Amino acid sequence: MTLYNAILLLIALCSSMPGGITAPHSPKPGNAQPDSAYIMAYTPNPGRSRSPLCFSWSTDLATWHQVGSGHGFLYSDYGRWGSQKRMINPALMLDDSGMWHCVWDLNETDNIFAHASSPDLVLWNRQTYLGKEEQDHFLLKFGKLQKNDRNIFRVPWKTVEGLINAWKVAAYNQQLYAEQAKDDAVRFAGLKPVGARLTTDDRSVRKISSLLTGIFFEDINYAADGGLYAELVQNRGFEYDPADREGNDKTWNSTKAWTLNGGKNLVIDTVNPVHVNNKHYIVLNGNDILVNEGFDGIAVKTGEKYDFSFFAQSIVRGRIIAELIDDGNSVAGSTEIVVNSKNWKKYSSVITAGKTVNNASLRITVSSRILLDHISLFPQNTFMKRKNGLRADLARSIADMRPRFVRFPGGCVAHGDGLENMYRWKNTIGPPESRVPQRNIWGYHQTAGLGYFEYFQFCEDIGAEPLPVVPAGVPCQNSANHGHRFGGQQCGIPMEEMDEYVQEVLDLIEWANGDKNTTWGRKRAEAGHPAPFNLKYLGIGNEDLITDVFEERFTMIFNAVKARHPEITIIGTVGPFSEGTDYREGWQLADKLDIEIVDEHYYQPPAWFIYNQDFYDKYDRGKARVYLGEYAAHLPGRPNNLETALAEALYLTTIERNGDVVSMASYAPLLAKENHTQWNPDLIYFNNTEVKPTTGYYVQKLFGENPGDEYISSTLDISTNNEKARSRIAGSVVRDTKTGDIIVKLVNMLPAGVKTSLDSGSLPSDGRVHKTVMTGNPADISVLPAETIISRAEASEITLPPYSLTILRFPGQ
Ligand code: AHR
Repeated sequence: MTLYNAILLLIALCSSMPGGITAPHSPKPGNAQPDSAYIMAYTPNPGRSRSPLCFSWSTDLATWHQVGSGHGFLYSDYGRWGSQKRMINPALMLDDSGMWHCVWDLNETDNIFAHASSPDLVLWNRQTYLGKEEQDHFLLKFGKLQKNDRNIFRVPWKTVEGLINAWKVAAYNQQLYAEQAKDDAVRFAGLKPVGARLTTDDRSVRKISSLLTGIFFEDINYAADGGLYAELVQNRGFEYDPADREGNDKTWNSTKAWTLNGGKNLVIDTVNPVHVNNKHYIVLNGNDILVNEGFDGIAVKTGEKYDFSFFAQSIVRGRIIAELIDDGNSVAGSTEIVVNSKNWKKYSSVITAGKTVNNASLRITVSSRILLDHISLFPQNTFMKRKNGLRADLARSIADMRPRFVRFPGGCVAHGDGLENMYRWKNTIGPPESRVPQRNIWGYHQTAGLGYFEYFQFCEDIGAEPLPVVPAGVPCQNSANHGHRFGGQQCGIPMEEMDEYVQEVLDLIEWANGDKNTTWGRKRAEAGHPAPFNLKYLGIGNEDLITDVFEERFTMIFNAVKARHPEITIIGTVGPFSEGTDYREGWQLADKLDIEIVDEHYYQPPAWFIYNQDFYDKYDRGKARVYLGEYAAHLPGRPNNLETALAEALYLTTIERNGDVVSMASYAPLLAKENHTQWNPDLIYFNNTEVKPTTGYYVQKLFGENPGDEYISSTLDISTNNEKARSRIAGSVVRDTKTGDIIVKLVNMLPAGVKTSLDSGSLPSDGRVHKTVMTGNPADISVLPAETIISRAEASEITLPPYSLTILRFPGQ
């Protein structure tokens, strides 16, 4: 549907609005503008999720004109996407100082109202949610409020004009950002051949961040259990819980992934667990056969060794046979263990796979009555051979990107969707059987087997800075109330518990960096890492709603960490979008607290990236620096293809240019297991046997392999005045001061090649040049980089192929 059609449809849908509302309208040029007019505020679908506050205007109270056919100026942010975020009975008010206020009800059950204020009806300040009994008292603090039962006010014409202009800008941008490469043939039909000239200026060089590209790791899409975490047994501790899926899956319980004697009921007990944090275990009788299906099967390779372990308790001496079986029931490897302990005891053995099976099961046969728990099967060949480690091929594909930092554990997983669901780092360290499993916010189970120790260890193994993100004392903007009166972010950690929570954050720093004689440093040492992990960065909060509840808690944590650990760089958060209330309020808070870095997030269409190349050029260098913690180009259908990858590459050249203000950037999300994907696109797809890096992955990898720590000013003269064409060509020049190499990156998102000459300015005058090119059709989903070596002379005149990223690496002299 075109934007025009969409607007027409909306007009048609809204034509039943009260007061005889008509199509969008503003006084025609030449017509005198009125001094004032009436505005009316309304929500088109009261109570429906995301039905916003809209405006109409009138000069005579008889004929009403909608601003943008139901263009939304204010959206309720309370509770869950989909079912909540509702606006019921919005009431607009004006205070003595000229500030507008809107209050509205949120749902029929909680007896809560919301409030937001705005100086101009266009930009709205943070939202507050309070009990209805507090409404009058709360509103009194704004002085005398003008109200009107029909939400109609007489306002200066400039107020109406502000609304109309805001809608026009939004509509214009919507159309612009909807541009896709599939229409380029038409869009650029008359375009004459385009040429470019890159001129570098070595006299104008600035330092840029040496941490620019890193990774965002979140346990989404089965990225951890069943993914990067190499455990092959699913539900090893019998801790799957119907609540993991909010009761919506009848098969999801402590027996998930297990079968007994081909279908008998499993007996799960909780009376005397191995560890209080993992209450469930299984009770087996003599000759019982228990089978685990793994995560979509268990993939084993011929000749490889697998550590098999479990906890057991048995009154009599018994025997356990563990076998890897293929789907024809033939055995691919086995081990036998004698069990003789009346108390819980850990047993371990090794199974060597005699053949490669992609879809094996683990079959366990017991000789007598026995209790079993934490049944685990781990490849010995984990990444860097770590115990309790990571799947080697997946970890390698991440390491190959040369990430300078790893952010973990999310994303939304970091703050969870309710107080009980926050990711608490202490729950994720220590022996795996003692860790606290929990519901994963993305609708599955999280064992915490991949916990803070493993994250830090991985960072060290790949030479990346660890960047943990702790909750800011509030859960996700998508939270339900989970039994608390105030849902959404308003169920922040109670203030009387905040000191304890702040201490938990401080303890993390001690755990990571403290001497092995400190309380928490000792725990790290006991886990096998006596030396500090050298934590430098700490994220507080993840794209939270910036509310009073958030600010109060964030400030407490921020101040405590700053006071105790000035050496730690804190990264604040400025909401989930590149504009809007949380972005503005988050930045204001950053200014107020003097936060060093803030975490920005935005998922946008490719054309947004094309047309916002100056996003960071405009940033005030005196303010906080930026960690672009989550970004990706999204097309309808959410593919990861050459078009999205090139939009990201093009934008990354602008990030290099602004590497003085942008400290770090990470594409999100990173991993996705086929058939278990809640979010697309991702950077690396995988199944049990294959790793499938995307086109976007190769862009990130090329930037990771070709970083610089100095930006060399350059000018790209493009031979066309066609602005749309000009916006589709971009480049950057950086120098790696360690090697002296100069790297030129050029992106061409036009459907035609661009002949490009490179001046000799700062570039070495001879030698060989490494040239890497990614090119293809915009819709291609598997484009690989191709590398060649060319002479310096050849590098002076190159053609950027249609839809391409070209990287030229000039070795230092
Ligand atoms: O990257 C996927 C999700 O997007 C993250 O969990 C969240 O922070 C963002 O909304």
